Amino acid sequence: MNIDSIKSAYRRYARVYDALFGPIFHPARKLIVQSLNARPGDRVLEVGVGTGLSLPLYRDDARVVGIDISTEMLDKARQRVRERSLSQVEAVLEMDAEHMDFPDNSFDKVVAMYVVSVVPDPARLVDEMRRVCKPSGEIYIVNHFRSRNPLIGASEGLMSPLSKLAGFRPDMDLDQFLESTQLNVVEACRANLFGYWKVLRCRNGVKESMVA
Ligand SMILES: C[S@@+](CC[C@H](N)C(=O)[O-])C[C@H]1O[C@@H](n2cnc3c(N)ncnc32)[C@H](O)[C@@H]1O
Repeated sequence: MNIDSIKSAYRRYARVYDALFGPIFHPARKLIVQSLNARPGDRVLEVGVGTGLSLPLYRDDARVVGIDISTEMLDKARQRVRERSLSQVEAVLEMDAEHMDFPDNSFDKVVAMYVVSVVPDPARLVDEMRRVCKPSGEIYIVNHFRSRNPLIGASEGLMSPLSKLAGFRPDMDLDQFLESTQLNVVEACRANLFGYWKVLRCRNGVKESMVA
């Protein structure tokens, strides 16, 4: 996966994304935003906001910033913000989540929904999410990881050469992801169809055992 292949995959997806991945991915979006909505006035960053399907779910007094690298996906998100008068959306910006322009400690919560298996370098993405999140803040991730069922896992592995075309890696390994990012996971649960996707709630910072 590289930025050019991601941009061209999501250029193709933009017009049909909501129909293909709207309802099927929505339970986890709701689950995460429900948890984020617990505190009034939080400033939230959503990386890889896509067409902005989650944006109407945020409470009215939240301050939400969404970023994405796909112009076409962002056009849809901006249209949604305009048409639904989503006053909780502070900004929708074109920006690479692996190299963000925000200063350190800018957000109370940082979220990546269905993004970690899309970006070129997931560990770099998580480092950036940590940097822009306040030290007391939280990081939320939802993604599909390689199935532990040997048959399903093997078929996901077979699909891996198609990653560039599909716009995501179907066989990302959860243990390797956690090892490379040292995310401080405080809660994990399954979501969506057959519980096939994992939701991770993480405290900002690295795992305690990594602190010297
Ligand atoms: C599978 S879509 C998820 C969209 C949305 N979060 C959702 O819930 O449907 C992945 C999104 O991540 C974006 N993306 C991929 N790499 C990115 C990067 N490096 N920086 C910002 N956005 C990125 C893609 O353009 C795409 O819109």
